[in-house]
Amino acid sequence: MTKRILLIVGGGIAAYKALELTRALRKRGHAVRAILTRAGAEFVTPLSLASLTGDKVYQDLFNLTDESEMGHIELSRSADLVVVAPATADLMAKAAHGLAGDLASTTLLATDKPVLMAPAMNVRMWRHAATQRNLAQLKADGVGFVGPGEGEMACGEFGPGRMAEPEAIAQAIDAALGALDAARPLAGLSALVTSGPTHEPIDPVRYIANRSSGKQGHAIAGALAAAGARVTLVSGPVGIPAPSGVQLVSVETAREMLAAAERALPADIAVCAAAVADWRVASDAAQKIKKAGHAPEPLALVENPDILATLSRHPFRRPRLVIGFAAETENVVEYARAKLARKGCDWIVANDVSPGTGIMGGDSNTVHLITAGGEENWAAMPKGEVAQRLVSRIAAEFAGA
Ligand code: C5P
Repeated sequence: MTKRILLIVGGGIAAYKALELTRALRKRGHAVRAILTRAGAEFVTPLSLASLTGDKVYQDLFNLTDESEMGHIELSRSADLVVVAPATADLMAKAAHGLAGDLASTTLLATDKPVLMAPAMNVRMWRHAATQRNLAQLKADGVGFVGPGEGEMACGEFGPGRMAEPEAIAQAIDAALGALDAARPLAGLSALVTSGPTHEPIDPVRYIANRSSGKQGHAIAGALAAAGARVTLVSGPVGIPAPSGVQLVSVETAREMLAAAERALPADIAVCAAAVADWRVASDAAQKIKKAGHAPEPLALVENPDILATLSRHPFRRPRLVIGFAAETENVVEYARAKLARKGCDWIVANDVSPGTGIMGGDSNTVHLITAGGEENWAAMPKGEVAQRLVSRIAAEFAGA
């Protein structure tokens, strides 16, 4: 699969090798977009880089044309991997300290993608305590490194500081991209997650609701996105932020949630973690219901649509894997198995929410995964871990394991 590499070319004699690196990456079928620093432009021309990448070369943080076409934040996220070659002592220092005074350093600070650096500098600069400190800091921050190699340098000195050869950098890029794929087993798949409670209006100021916090559903949406899936999170009113990388659709009522869920189809995976109100008021009052000196009329309720059952039985857009939740206070597994059949979904994540378990609104969860084939009882663990584990099971399912 074509990968997108953002190549930052720093200033140094080794910059000419960035051209050969670009060629090697294009040969592998990757798309390369380049940022050329001011110092880098003293060694290679924007035109030669642009010819080899087949794209415009980005140079100036404050260039209005660049910002209108593609902002620096978008630029920093538009790639699968950011490569800095050559990574000068100056660029390493800036990145290690979080400086953001130009396009290259701003991009390194703003990116949410892995970064690989190929350092190139004079041997004394490389050995200097400051550079070694920066190197250690960058490694601790998760930056990968290839090189530098040892040998005679352009400045006539000898020792470590030579930039790795383009083919070695390309191989390090292959390895980094391979690791990336392994960490994103759901890349290319789309997922829909419902989360949180629904609010069913009684009148303009009152509503029927429940105690769902949305923590578990949101954690699942975040874990699916981290595994590479394109995620639409349809959430009722909650007090927590949407995880990064998901598309949030905020709704209030069950009917709005169903409409938003159906709009998110087709999807490969659906996880219905929302605590949807089973009932809504038959006709919510247009005006606030006033105290009348006597008990109000009983509220007439009508049943809400069942989102999980609707998705599970969708005539032409049923997601390949539909997962529901079951919050029970007794006979948890038995009731969950019956629910699996009743709703027509593939898996049920069942949890015991009896008072005293602290699960509702809490950070921890004890669940049972019910599938057609059997049942797994998971130990108590934080909701984030339940999400991770569920996503691993989903990935195994799609990998045919
Ligand atoms: O029937 P019950 O509410 O116990 O089922 C829980 C499961 O069904 C959860 O996955 C929940 O998100 C889903 N559900 C739904 N729409 C409803 C009721 C429940 O999607 N109206």
